[in-house]
Amino acid sequence: VKCIGILTSGGDAPGMNAAIRAVTRTCLNKGIKVYGVRLGYKGLHDGDFIEFDSHSTRNIINIGGTFLKSARFPEFKDPEVRKEAIEQMKKVGMEALVVIGGDGSYNGALKLTEMGINCIGIPGTIDNDIPDTDFTIGFDTALNTIVDALDKLRDTSSSHQRCTILEVMGRRCGDLAVHAGLACGAEMIVTSESGFDEAEIIETLKRSKASDKKHALVVITEHITDVHALAKRIEEATGFETRANVLGHMQRGGSPTARDRVLATRLGIKAVELLEEGKGGLCVSDVKGEIIGLPIEEVLSHKRKVNQGIYEDVLKLR
Ligand code: F6P
Repeated sequence: VKCIGILTSGGDAPGMNAAIRAVTRTCLNKGIKVYGVRLGYKGLHDGDFIEFDSHSTRNIINIGGTFLKSARFPEFKDPEVRKEAIEQMKKVGMEALVVIGGDGSYNGALKLTEMGINCIGIPGTIDNDIPDTDFTIGFDTALNTIVDALDKLRDTSSSHQRCTILEVMGRRCGDLAVHAGLACGAEMIVTSESGFDEAEIIETLKRSKASDKKHALVVITEHITDVHALAKRIEEATGFETRANVLGHMQRGGSPTARDRVLATRLGIKAVELLEEGKGGLCVSDVKGEIIGLPIEEVLSHKRKVNQGIYEDVLKLR
């Protein structure tokens, strides 16, 4: 392969820049031309390309977000739109593509591969919701942001003897909530994997109020319930003064942690190596510390495995 493009797509995640840097440096070291594609699949369609040299990705390994910018572009599902994108790629001789993003981005990569353009997906999302990889780029940084927020909420929750609810991101995946809840000693962790049992939450909080601790933290994944309404119901049922917080997009920003930078770098290198071997339609995954390539089609057909062990451990400390 002589020329590769790289894009970031979907929600941004800290560490995406480190992955862009690794892909770029690996290409240049191998004598492969590399283009940055701005604004995800939209930029691919519009021909918004920048040729990278050895200066292009300097000083970005520690920066959050994605300097290539990201966009959600549902129009890419249309085969005509994809054909137009391929035309743009051909104009500059771009033969293959690395796509950093979540499952929606993987779908685009698979479709392009089926149309003759080898693509490799790199898992980039704070949600950690991609099947067959232990971690996605950005998860660890977002987790640490949540831990910081929960530690701060604990201070005020304790001072006022309150129950504090924190809603965190994750789409349908409870990994951010369960890891942060364990790291911060939350009284209750509610995710779609654990299920939402309001009676159980109220019982647990009543017990907490009756103990000599007198404050409580509840961590909950987004899209499960209206946390402000839940706070009111908890207050009525338990007599525990309760406040709800929604952490929001703060979770998506910030300088990536060392773990995210290392993961992003290793995934980026592997993606280029696979393209160099003439492979496409694959994504790179971190499986027990080893970086491997797996067929996107298979990965997308799998349900993400729930880490049962961590949920069992949560119950052991309740
Ligand atoms: O997929 C990343 C994510 O941050 C989810 O956790 C969240 O549900 C969603 O993106 C928010 O999307 P948007 O940035 O479009 O509001």
